[in-house]
Amino acid sequence: MKLAEPPHDLVDAAVQVIQNAYAPYSGFRVASAVRAGSGRIYVGVNVENSSYGLTVCAERVAVFSAITNGEREIREVLVYTADSEEPVFPCGACLQVLSEFGGENTIIHALAGRSGRYSSARLSELLPRAFRFRPIRRLP
Ligand code: THU
Repeated sequence: MKLAEPPHDLVDAAVQVIQNAYAPYSGFRVASAVRAGSGRIYVGVNVENSSYGLTVCAERVAVFSAITNGEREIREVLVYTADSEEPVFPCGACLQVLSEFGGENTIIHALAGRSGRYSSARLSELLPRAFRFRPIRRLP
């Protein structure tokens, strides 16, 4: 579903780091920029590994950077795929990680580098029934 053009500040932040994507195996470079609860933007790129399964997607790197810097909420996400014609939304693993810190209004924007095509969707639309574990007592 097309909601809105991807915000320029998220696009700029992702474009700035796309050259750091480490994708020697797939050749598919991804950068993600997330707007956190404080309003600050955090970025990440995909980091592949010769043991393929250890690869980490750009979105998770960006979210983990936000959390490392004290954030606990993710409001908006951009996925910038430099080498695709079509916009790409986060994989299931990344959606689950995003759902830990996202809410009803968290929006995901996808922008394809080759064509400039974009699309947006709500996190709740992409992962409507995310796994939730509610401990009785919440530890840090
Ligand atoms: N990838 C991401 O970084 N984010 C996505 O949303 C989809 C996939 C990466 C993982 C791998 O390095 C490459 O894209 C091809 O799957």
